[in-house]
Amino acid sequence: MTDWEDRWQRNDTPWDKGYGAPPLSEFLDEAGVELHQARRVLVPGCGSGHDVRELAGRGIGATGLDLSETAVAKARAVPRVGHEDYLSGNLFEADWRIGREFDAVWEHTCFCAIDPSLRPAYARAMAEILPVGGHLVGLYFLTPWDPGEQEEGPPFAATREEIVELLSPWFELRKDRMPGRAYPGREGREWLAVFGRRNRPNPGVAESDLLA
Ligand SMILES: C[S@@+](CC[C@H](N)C(=O)[O-])C[C@H]1O[C@@H](n2cnc3c(N)ncnc32)[C@H](O)[C@@H]1O
Repeated sequence: MTDWEDRWQRNDTPWDKGYGAPPLSEFLDEAGVELHQARRVLVPGCGSGHDVRELAGRGIGATGLDLSETAVAKARAVPRVGHEDYLSGNLFEADWRIGREFDAVWEHTCFCAIDPSLRPAYARAMAEILPVGGHLVGLYFLTPWDPGEQEEGPPFAATREEIVELLSPWFELRKDRMPGRAYPGREGREWLAVFGRRNRPNPGVAESDLLA
């Protein structure tokens, strides 16, 4: 599995484009009520914090979380633009979120960074982080046309159907689109989806899949 701290220490961070994700700015420009109306947005796998600052600069309270202390230190070293903060911690553990509440998540390049075997744990973490009525707004990296590419992740891509199915015990897809804006080279490879946290479990879900 990827040693993220080592990559940050070696400055081996080709994903870091130096500015926030264009589909995020597009979403926020075009309404993006699920993020604009959130009291606090979590950005998991925030890296050096470009998306956190994109949100905070628009008056949205945002918290970036990253496994790598070096990434978090980089993010914290940038002058604040609003009500943003950063935590170092593991998305799959609960310690960092004790006493914190989030009503939205902005997902971008965290899901595709984790090993595919951890996807069920990712879905469960999102369900634990977000209350009923909360929103998971995600920019997901879609499965490439060349299946060989998938083996060499991260990034690990997925299909829309896989993502909807994975989240379906706790979330329903409210809207989605292929973004009009993208970082150069990612055009047509990303899918923006807004999921709402259900107030009732999906009737098709086994009891063992539900949160305690
Ligand atoms: C591909 S990078 C993307 C960083 C940032 N979102 C960006 O696009 O510039 C993935 C990030 O997720 C972080 N990460 C990986 N697994 C994580 C986990 N389990 N919990 C929190 N962060 C994690 C890594 O340290 C890394 O900074």
